[in-house]
Amino acid sequence: MLAEMSTTEETAVAAPPSRVLVVDDDESVRDVISVLLKEEGYDCVVAAGPEAALELATAEEIPLVISDMKMPGKDGLWLLEAFRDRFPDTSVIMLTGFGDTEAAVDCLRRGAVDYLLKPPKLTDLIRSIERALAKRRIELARKRYQKKLERKVRDRTTELRNALKDISLTYQNTLLALVSALDAREHETSDHSQRVVQYTTAIAHRLGIKGVELDEIGRGALLHDIGKIGVPDAVLLKPGQLTPEEWVEMRKHPDTGYQMIQPIAFLSIPAQIVLSHQERFDGRGYPRRLKGDEIHIGARIFAVADTLDAMTSDRPYRKGTSFANAISEIERCKGTQFDPEVVRAFLDIGEAGLVAIRQDMMAKKAELQKANALNLVRDEVVDTA
Ligand SMILES: [Fe+2]
Repeated sequence: MLAEMSTTEETAVAAPPSRVLVVDDDESVRDVISVLLKEEGYDCVVAAGPEAALELATAEEIPLVISDMKMPGKDGLWLLEAFRDRFPDTSVIMLTGFGDTEAAVDCLRRGAVDYLLKPPKLTDLIRSIERALAKRRIELARKRYQKKLERKVRDRTTELRNALKDISLTYQNTLLALVSALDAREHETSDHSQRVVQYTTAIAHRLGIKGVELDEIGRGALLHDIGKIGVPDAVLLKPGQLTPEEWVEMRKHPDTGYQMIQPIAFLSIPAQIVLSHQERFDGRGYPRRLKGDEIHIGARIFAVADTLDAMTSDRPYRKGTSFANAISEIERCKGTQFDPEVVRAFLDIGEAGLVAIRQDMMAKKAELQKANALNLVRDEVVDTA
């Protein structure tokens, strides 16, 4: 037996004897098998029935069970099923009576590793035990490997997800820097783009838009005027009224913005919004004079958000109007300038909701400025120390 078992690993480190549980209602059978197996070097324990066997297996690890098939009360099949459920790593060999082949096959079908006819020959019994233990060792090793692999896949997935999050954050910060540069050039519209993002996403959310689509619409709103980078200072920063020629120049900005960001794969939907952000629901907008549903939903939502922010923000030449005024003006223009469905969602947010969005943004900005100022002071202290 030992010769059959010996592998390089097993001879190098003396393995503890394998524990085998013999279950039989007949005491003489239990004793004979138990004595023989102990002589062969196994750590053998016995049980008079399936319930006692389960109790033993609960108390200590049992790698292998040799069980009689026919027992009064709970039989060998019951034991087999119970071990499958509660101790799936325990191998079970069944002892069946002569001529009970059908039941033996049934045992194999239900997960027994082998069956032997009673009374079993010692050589057959040992061979069967060794085969079962070897099979179990391989199966346990496979399970351990699979678990390790699953853990590795899980770890890698988390790492990948974090890396994607970092990339997405970097993208977002790059876009914010780009828009801040644009805002800085057009002094009077400072923070306009970021406020419009908040109003746009709030309306889109009311319309049931979520996930990636919501993010893309937010990005489109953030970048809406990016094409103004291509508008000359003399036109963009002109304090007075624009001439018709200057308007032609100014009205190129949706197309310029579209050309700028459309080749970037993750900005292809925002590019649609940039191109359409000056369109009107009634088809009297520019540059393509699109109408109704032809205009991207993100651009239809943006149009409402942009008007709200433009009307409620102060300009050097005029004071911003109240939210109530801006809301009733937007409602008046539903169906002409704005999509009525979008206006409905916008009205659902209500004046208090819209004011809260603006105040929340201002509070966050103040917090950020304070943190930056503190960092500056801290740096100065460190420099002079
Ligand atoms: Fe614009």
